[in-house]
Amino acid sequence: MGKPLIAGNWKMHGTAESALTLAAQLNQYRFQENAAEMIIFPPLVHISAVSAVLADSSIALGAQNVSQYSNGAYTGEVSGEMLLDQGCKYVLVGHSERRAVMGESSQVVAEKFRAAQNAGLIPILCVGETLEQRHAGKTLEVVAKQIDAVIDLVGLNKVIQAVIAYEPVWAIGTGETASPQQAQQVHSAIRTQLGEAGQATTLLYGGSVNASNAAELFEQLDIDGGLVGGASLEADKFLKIAQLVEA
Ligand code: 13P
Repeated sequence: MGKPLIAGNWKMHGTAESALTLAAQLNQYRFQENAAEMIIFPPLVHISAVSAVLADSSIALGAQNVSQYSNGAYTGEVSGEMLLDQGCKYVLVGHSERRAVMGESSQVVAEKFRAAQNAGLIPILCVGETLEQRHAGKTLEVVAKQIDAVIDLVGLNKVIQAVIAYEPVWAIGTGETASPQQAQQVHSAIRTQLGEAGQATTLLYGGSVNASNAAELFEQLDIDGGLVGGASLEADKFLKIAQLVEA
C-alpha cells in the first residue's frame, strides 16, 4: 500500500477565472486529518494564480508537463525548477495524450521523469495500453515496458519514490472504466515489477473515474487512489470522489 492520493488533471480546460473559482471551491473544503492528499493539475498558464489561491492549503499543486532539459534555448518549454518555483510539488509525465498526440517516446518520458526528480518534483508516471494492445493480450507487457524504460534510465530506487498512474488509454475520457478486477490485475503486476522496495509506492488508477465507480476501484488491494480527468472539473464531483479514497 502506498500513500493515498487523489489527483485532478484539468487538462486544457478553463479560463483564468474558472480555474481560480474551482481552486477556491476546493480550498474551502475542510479535509479530515487522515484524508488522502489532494493534488490539482491546472493548465500551465494558470499555475501561478492557482498557486496563490492555494498558499497555506493542504491541497498540493502539480503541472501537466515538464521539459526534459533543465534550462537553455528550448522555446516554449518549462523546466522542473520553474515549476517548483511556482509552488508545484508534483508533475505528470508520460500521460497517454502526450505520448500519442505529442509523440513523446518512452525515452523522452524517462528523461522528463529524471528532470522532474532532479528539480525536486515528484513525478507521476502515467502508463497504460491501447484497446488494440489489450485485445492482443499485451497489456501487462506494454505497461512493464513503459516502466522499464524509466527504470533503465534512473534506476529502480528512483522509480519507487515516484507515483505511478495506470491509465488504460481506452478508458480515458470515454466513459468506459476498467473493471476493478482489470485494474487490480495491472496494479498488482506493477507492484511485483517494483519488487520489495516498491510495496509502499503509490499506485493510482485513472480513466473515467467518477463518484459511482470510484469506491469499488479504490477498494482494490493495490490501488492507492485516483487520477481523475473530466470529473475533477467540478468541485462537488471531485470532492465526492476524494472522499472515497481510503486514508
Ligand atoms: P478522464 O477521467 O476524463 O477519463 O481522464 C483521465 C485522465 O486522463 C487523467 O489524467
